[in-house]
Amino acid sequence: MALLSVTEFLGRFHPVLVHLPIGILLLGVLMHWLSRREQFRQLHPAIGITLLMGALSAVFSCISGLFLAGSGEYDIDVLDRHKWLGIAVAVISIVYYLLYTGKVSLKTPAIVPYIISLLLFLLITITGHLGGTLTHGEGYLSQGFSASGDDSKDVKKIIPDVQAAVAYNDIIQPMLQNKCYSCHGTSKQKGKLRLDTKEFILKGGEEGKTLVAGKGDESEIYKRVILDPLEKKHMPPKGKPQLTEAEITLLHWWINAGASFDQQVKALPQDSKIKLLLEALQSNHIAVPSKPDVPEEPVAAAPQEAVNKLKAVGATVIPVATGSNYLSVNFISSPVVTDKEIKLLEPLAAQLVWLKAGGTSISDSAFAVIGKLTKLTRLGLEHTAITDKGLSSLQSLSKLQYLNIVGTSITISGLVSLKGLPDLHSIYLYQSKVLPADLQALRAAFPKAMLDTGGYTLPVLEGDTSEVKKK
Ligand code: HEC
Repeated sequence: MALLSVTEFLGRFHPVLVHLPIGILLLGVLMHWLSRREQFRQLHPAIGITLLMGALSAVFSCISGLFLAGSGEYDIDVLDRHKWLGIAVAVISIVYYLLYTGKVSLKTPAIVPYIISLLLFLLITITGHLGGTLTHGEGYLSQGFSASGDDSKDVKKIIPDVQAAVAYNDIIQPMLQNKCYSCHGTSKQKGKLRLDTKEFILKGGEEGKTLVAGKGDESEIYKRVILDPLEKKHMPPKGKPQLTEAEITLLHWWINAGASFDQQVKALPQDSKIKLLLEALQSNHIAVPSKPDVPEEPVAAAPQEAVNKLKAVGATVIPVATGSNYLSVNFISSPVVTDKEIKLLEPLAAQLVWLKAGGTSISDSAFAVIGKLTKLTRLGLEHTAITDKGLSSLQSLSKLQYLNIVGTSITISGLVSLKGLPDLHSIYLYQSKVLPADLQALRAAFPKAMLDTGGYTLPVLEGDTSEVKKK
């Protein structure tokens, strides 16, 4: 560790010292106002000395602050205002002290010390706030109030059509804003680097250029994020929110593609991996509509005999909520489920809203029955032998919101047959036969749906816990 110079050393005291004048001067102001009342008259002799201590500590705070300001890590504008207001606090507190104690006897009306005390109160508040902005960054006050807390600064840009988006504005800038601005933005410029505008990014930092257009591997901005996280130079530093794998890959892609600040995504070269990442970005940004996935109107209880038959073949049949007659059926722990067992669902058509038939031995003939389960909002058919031909019979499921065809041989033509389903908002098609090249067309067919093409964790359907029992 480098040795600190004397000025740097004194500067370090500023954050501690500043609390003294704030506390002491405010106490002095309070006592001054209280002493107007009869029962606090006796405070009077203590007020002068309190104001003197406050004024002296304000002067020391200014001196230490000036040393700290020289370190160059702060936003110049905010720093300047903070500095002059701080000096004003020191000067006014001295004047206040002199007037109050009558050390200088100007013929001022008695109201003047009170006006000065109010002014001082305001100045201390504003100076303190600017000081907070310098150390904690813009908006530090409001951040603590957000509901989620940790990623309160997270910006998520809506990307309805990723190919039409501007790569920098919609992909790179939000990433830098979320993960880098806190130290390389308006309030702080660690390493003398700002990353919040094109000009600043191109200007670079202490060590020179951060971006070499066309050469990701030579760009400091990229080299720093792929360093071993334990290395001191790794960015963002240890303990701070890190870039995800996908973000790092996209940053590299953007730089290699020329680090353009205004080109659209579609103008940049994309291999299939990048295509998928971009596509996922688009889906992730689409808010899933919050239509209830259980109908609101009441329904009669399902015939018990039909439920028992299903349970006999190993299906989990449970109400979707306590007291609800709507049902969820899960075949995950049934040893063998074929099209024959699927027929057992038919008497439950009025109640069945969630069906999990993933991993079973069903085939296209099952759709003759599934097509009649018109109350279904969620349907899992992953890792089954279904084909495009069968899938088209789901057109009758007008309430369907969620469809899982992960690991099936479904292609785009099968899926597109469902484009008339008004509420279908989530389609999981990882490892199906839908090709990256099809994604654009698929997006056009389902403009509002979340198309999950990556290996994300799927949302848990009720009853997934029964998987544990399966051996
Ligand atoms: C918690 C604060 C913090 C965050 C967040 C942060 N950095 Fe830094 N960064 C620093 C500090 C401190 C330095 C100076 C020390 C050094 O060079 O390692 C620095 C230096 C750098 C430098 C070298 C600048 C130069 O020329 O010396 C680059 C490039 C950089 N950061 C990129 C990033 C990127 C990209 C992100 C976001 C993904 C990021 N930083 C997030 C604190 C941070």
